[in-house]
Amino acid sequence: MMLEQKATITSHQKIAPRVFLMAFASPQMAAQASPGQFVHLKPSAPGPLLLRRPFSINRVEGKNIFIMYRVVGRGTSLISSLPKGTEIDVLGPLGNGFEISRKYQEHVLLAGGMGLAPMQFLAGRLKAMKLESRFFYGCSCKKELLPCPTPGKVIATDDGSCGHKGFVTDAFLSRIDKFKKPVVYACGPWPMLRRTALICRQHHIDCQVSLEAFMACGVGACQGCVVKGVKEYVTVCRQGPVFDSREIDWEQESGL
Ligand SMILES: Cc1cc2nc3c(=O)[nH]c(=O)nc-3n(C[C@H](O)[C@H](O)[C@H](O)COP(=O)(O)OP(=O)(O)OC[C@H]3O[C@@H](n4cnc5c(N)ncnc54)[C@H](O)[C@@H]3O)c2cc1C
Ligand code: FES
Repeated sequence: MMLEQKATITSHQKIAPRVFLMAFASPQMAAQASPGQFVHLKPSAPGPLLLRRPFSINRVEGKNIFIMYRVVGRGTSLISSLPKGTEIDVLGPLGNGFEISRKYQEHVLLAGGMGLAPMQFLAGRLKAMKLESRFFYGCSCKKELLPCPTPGKVIATDDGSCGHKGFVTDAFLSRIDKFKKPVVYACGPWPMLRRTALICRQHHIDCQVSLEAFMACGVGACQGCVVKGVKEYVTVCRQGPVFDSREIDWEQESGL
């Protein structure tokens, strides 16, 4: 059940250049949240930010919900200035989240850049369910690597300054024959998701992608976040953000 409430920031720190990790207390949301879902938030105090901003749930610890975000514009810059103890206005948990099924033998996670944000929660849930998982994380260079505690992950950097040289999708493709009855979960920029979807289609692998879009209401009312599906337009906030990669029309340009 979606909740709208004021929550107190319990920790807020910079973890990399322009990247912050924030926790806020919400026992009810924490109890309900599942990997791949997101929260929509803005400062409680009246100010310049009228619309909420969407952020994936990075993990849940006790009553705390964590988000990990990059400062890219006015909203994230304002949110990054809020100290511990401040109240924020939160709507969540929103969206559908990843579907986890025991019918697969290996659960393969692909994260590109800030697409790492929801994957820690997913990796933790898979581990708690004692499911076999593989983690691939890619970014442009070593300097952009974000803290990711998951052991045994494969790192890829575009310039080769750390781990596999090339895109995270190449690192995944180079190991694809080793996976037994896999499913893929991917989050990252549109071109990475498109490439992942194509690889999975060619290898007959089920694939779930977490999409991003500009959002206003966050609950399916404004049609602001629609993307083209193969059959019909879909709302990322309500029908997603996680989709079966076969449902999306990958020929369209991302609006972001
Ligand atoms: C379901 C969902 C989950 C998300 N989870 C995270 C997360 O965990 N961590 C994180 O850092 N970001 C996440 N985002 C993106 C985040 O919401 C945007 O970066 C943020 O709303 C930008 O707000 P702003 O006011 O700072 O930027 P604006 O001033 O609105 O825009 C500044 C720049 O950011 C780009 N931008 C705006 N919105 C998005 C977007 N939705 N995705 C990508 N680029 C955008 C614009 O193209 C523009 O170049 C998520 C988005 C969605 C839809
Ligand atoms: S943001 Fe309003 S319908 Fe998705």
